[in-house]
Amino acid sequence: MLQDQLFVLDMMNNNLTGKVPNSLGKLGALAILDLSNNSLSGEIPSSLQYCTQLVNLNLGYNNFSGTIPKWIGESLPFLMVLSLCSNTFSGSIPSEILQLGYLRALDLSHNNLSGYIPRSIGELSWEKGVPTYYMPFSLYMPFFQYSIYNASASSVYLVVKGEAREYSKLLYLLETIDLSCNNLYGEIPNEIENLQALQSLNLSMNHLTGHIPDQIGKMRALESLDVAMNKLSGTIPQSLATLNFLSSLNVSYNNLSGKIPSGNQLQTLDDPSIYIGNPYLCGPPTTQSCSTNETTIIFGKESHDRFERFGLYISVVLGFIIGFWIFFCTLLLSRSFRNTYFSAIDRKYDRLYVAVALTLIRLRRRCGQT
Ligand SMILES: *[C@@H]1O[C@H](CO)[C@@H](O)[C@H](O)[C@H]1NC(C)=O
Ligand SMILES: *[C@@H]1O[C@H](CO)[C@@H](O)[C@H](O)[C@H]1NC(C)=O
Ligand SMILES: *[C@@H]1O[C@H](CO)[C@@H](O)[C@H](O)[C@H]1NC(C)=O
Ligand SMILES: *[C@@H]1O[C@H](CO)[C@@H](O)[C@H](O)[C@H]1NC(C)=O
Ligand SMILES: *[C@@H]1O[C@H](CO)[C@@H](O)[C@H](O)[C@H]1NC(C)=O
Ligand SMILES: *[C@@H]1O[C@H](CO)[C@@H](O)[C@H](O)[C@H]1NC(C)=O
Repeated sequence: MLQDQLFVLDMMNNNLTGKVPNSLGKLGALAILDLSNNSLSGEIPSSLQYCTQLVNLNLGYNNFSGTIPKWIGESLPFLMVLSLCSNTFSGSIPSEILQLGYLRALDLSHNNLSGYIPRSIGELSWEKGVPTYYMPFSLYMPFFQYSIYNASASSVYLVVKGEAREYSKLLYLLETIDLSCNNLYGEIPNEIENLQALQSLNLSMNHLTGHIPDQIGKMRALESLDVAMNKLSGTIPQSLATLNFLSSLNVSYNNLSGKIPSGNQLQTLDDPSIYIGNPYLCGPPTTQSCSTNETTIIFGKESHDRFERFGLYISVVLGFIIGFWIFFCTLLLSRSFRNTYFSAIDRKYDRLYVAVALTLIRLRRRCGQT
């Protein structure tokens, strides 16, 4: 009944049960809808797609089910905060959601989502800022003051750096993606490297495979990265060490291997528990040392080489001694061999003598001519 007059609908932290009525879609001016922390169930009502001015949609901590509708990405172009965490949503993440140009915070954690992380995640255009040029939106600005400063009202609860914090005051600065605790599989798309304003990325507790993207160092603003409890393999990319703001990292319980990169900010992240559960990782801060193993290998190889060379010398010397004595003894013991051998040498000497003499004569002649 409130139709185009209601901008903020805040019913968080109650004991509401049952489904959300379809008539909600008539609230065409709604900018903030917060129904979080209730016991609401059923699917997201499809009429919500007529609330095209929505900026903050928070349905977290309820019992909603079904799939995440595609139209969220198509019909709600001004969404900045989308929180559907701690429900029982299933199916895959629609790639349309990742086309929301003003999205600042996406929290889909603690659901039953499966499938791949869409490649279009890299297209989230973080740098557009607040859409002030959009007239109706600027008219609602007073209500954003409400959402920003009235902490108990329309705050966004996001889990950043391991603790739940009220981020409403930082709404316009925060850039975070939380997809933790789902059943996502496949690889982390390389396109994620394009999210250069992203500050927090939580992909923990999924079934992700493949490598951590090599160029993760391009995500310059990253402060927190959690990929714990997946099935990632390969090495930790060296480019991670170039992230100057990284203050929280967790890669535990995967199958990562090789040397942990060092340098810059990574030096300060010396809690071994962030690497635990990766039996093939080595180097500080783990107790497993790569360098000793490497040196043993090199040392082992070197001594092996030395042994080979020694063997070669021995066989050359032995060969010479044995060969010489076989020859010398034959010369001593066999008269016919002695005769043939020395007459052959005589003949060779004669031939050589003749050849040298002839050459000398020829040379002398030539010198005489000139
Ligand atoms: C959530 O919904 C399921 C059915 O979809 C129901 O079995 C369960 O009791 C509900 N949980 C709560 C906390 O309401
Ligand atoms: C999670 O989704 C799978 C299908 O993807 C389904 O089989 C399973 O029952 C769901 N689990 C819950 C708790 O809803
Ligand atoms: C990532 O999400 C998991 C599960 O929701 C949570 O336990 C963990 O603290 C989060 N990590 C960070 C760095 O916030
Ligand atoms: C973990 O990685 C190693 C190589 O680093 C590989 O041999 C092993 O099969 C992997 N284990 C699993 C469970 O994927
Ligand atoms: C890293 O994640 C694992 C598994 O979720 C957790 O046990 C550990 O405490 C975390 N470490 C830090 C420093 O947050
Ligand atoms: C280093 O060697 C020890 C035993 O010598 C072995 O247990 C460990 O797995 C090796 N580490 C690496 C990184 O190969």
